[in-house]
Amino acid sequence: MRKLLMRIAACAAVAVTAGATLSVVAGTTADATIRVDTTKVRFPVAPDLWGIFFEDIDLSLDGGVYAEMVRNRSFEDGNGGKRELTLEYWNPVGQAECVLDKSRPLSDKNPHAVRVAGRKGDGIANEGYFGMGVHKGVPCKLSLALRAAPGSSVRSLDVSLEAYSKPLLATGRIEGLTEEWRTFELTLTPNGSDAQARLAFRLGEDGAIVMDCVSLFPSDAVAGKFRRDLVERLAALRPSFLRFPGGCWVEGERMKDAYRWKTTIGDKWERRTQWNIWKYWATNGVGYHEFLELCEVLGAKALFCINCGMSHKETVPMDKMDEFVQDALDAIEYANGPVNSTWGAKRAENGHPEPFNLGYLEIGNENGGKEYESRYALIANAVRAKYPEVKLVFDNWKATKRVEDPKDLRDDHFYFSPDHFMGALTHEYDTPKGDFGIFVGEYAVTEGTGRYGSLRGAIGEAAFMLGLERNQNQVRLAAYAPLFANAQHTTWTPNLIYPTTSGNFASPSWTVQKLFSENRGAEVLGVEVNTAKFRTATVSRRGRTEHEIETVQASAVRDADGAVIVKIVNCAEEPKTAALNLRGRAVRTVFTGPSSDAHNSPFAPDVLKETVAEAVLDGTPLSLPPLSLTILRMPIASHSTR
Ligand code: AHR
Repeated sequence: MRKLLMRIAACAAVAVTAGATLSVVAGTTADATIRVDTTKVRFPVAPDLWGIFFEDIDLSLDGGVYAEMVRNRSFEDGNGGKRELTLEYWNPVGQAECVLDKSRPLSDKNPHAVRVAGRKGDGIANEGYFGMGVHKGVPCKLSLALRAAPGSSVRSLDVSLEAYSKPLLATGRIEGLTEEWRTFELTLTPNGSDAQARLAFRLGEDGAIVMDCVSLFPSDAVAGKFRRDLVERLAALRPSFLRFPGGCWVEGERMKDAYRWKTTIGDKWERRTQWNIWKYWATNGVGYHEFLELCEVLGAKALFCINCGMSHKETVPMDKMDEFVQDALDAIEYANGPVNSTWGAKRAENGHPEPFNLGYLEIGNENGGKEYESRYALIANAVRAKYPEVKLVFDNWKATKRVEDPKDLRDDHFYFSPDHFMGALTHEYDTPKGDFGIFVGEYAVTEGTGRYGSLRGAIGEAAFMLGLERNQNQVRLAAYAPLFANAQHTTWTPNLIYPTTSGNFASPSWTVQKLFSENRGAEVLGVEVNTAKFRTATVSRRGRTEHEIETVQASAVRDADGAVIVKIVNCAEEPKTAALNLRGRAVRTVFTGPSSDAHNSPFAPDVLKETVAEAVLDGTPLSLPPLSLTILRMPIASHSTR
């Protein structure tokens, strides 16, 4: 009967009411009908559904969220991926001779410094991450370790922040150098803004100095370390959880490159400077502790992804896995343990006596097969025995047997074309995958989209997210990937947010993520859509794929305050209409753009934005712009299913 009604609806432009009586919208035709059943709650929403995945990829931390402005700040960066060190990102000023110095290091974990020799006025300058972004009147805090070279009479150093075209933005002077290491601090307040400033040091007298641990942070950094504009971007997404720190970064190419959290905590100058698989040197200035802090800043649960003894090219033998099991247990103790536990005490020592909220532990990233299954079981059993409250996440790459407990979550990743996301993937979770939960840990339109994303890509993701929302009894968590790429270092594209030196801009996908997160609701309602379909074909490295796409797609939830929220996606490149069975006042949010490949860029950072307007739903079919996401929020008072 229902099928028959839907067929009639398609022909005669009808809207079906929640009570299953049929009402014809007089004199109107619609391309699709959407029927929301407000009488029946399917299930409560997954409370943590929308989160974020923060990988140390493409200078997302150093050169991104980590507000440090000095690059190669402790002179430990190597030459490309090689271990030989260079003075990358440092340039001589005047006729100075600048060489790496290992003669008397500050610590054996930070063995290199720079020796700068020359006449008064010669020196060295740091160019930062593609220039330093400084803002008029926002003080920058400088700290550095210095000593006069043996026998040298240099006692002072002039410091300046200089704009790209060289005018001085701020100056300062350091005095009292001796031949012993000493740390100096100085505040530099720029008298103008510049996106490509540099930090220069000039000898106050003829001679030589040795310098190390050079650091410059804007004083408005959140918690003294995170770039404010980027934290605001993240906060606007209202993430329920934050998965970190990778991705492939967790695995590394070989085990020596794998992420080991214990090398990322404590004194920032003693942390491992590590070659990142995404082609840069990582300081681990945002290490395990700071990631947990960032979760706290955002009010997000922490989901730590730990190396499981597997890298891209090597696997740790089973008889050497104890260290990895212990790392997992210690990571949880560090985050959540009491201050009188070994690792809880270290957390307190590092400035955070209160426990963090580590809710999830993922064991491995994109690992799979027999080798993974045995390593997963080893770590998972140890964690389950000691920390049953921590939810575990497992990978499913080439699974050969069940490894999970029904309490666990499986991490699924999707990188495809917009067509794939609008097509088959919208129904990916219509049938249960098993008796475990699903974490869609990484997804993004990566094919047929530009460097900075595209409207069509974002709308493809929106269609997929409708499917996640409709099936959130099974899909418990989901996160777009990757979150950040420095606009000048994009080995992976597209990304959600692009830091530049002077600010940031976001891809169209960011707006979609934000709108879904703002409109999560509390209970999932039934929704039926009757729509035409269209066919497309894409060609990628996977070959040619045909897609059948439902033109109009929808999902519906009810909020805690009783408001009904309906999300509708028009996947077509032309306007469509939809007859909806709800009546009353609504706040109508529409996200679309001028063309399928529309996107924001460094030169036009705000091209794509949602519009919000009041609307009255009176039975007239809704207009759905081409490639659009429409969200209707209807307060209960004015809501009826007539
Ligand atoms: O998100 C980029 C990469 O894609 C991640 O590092 C990896 O997990 C996936 O293959």
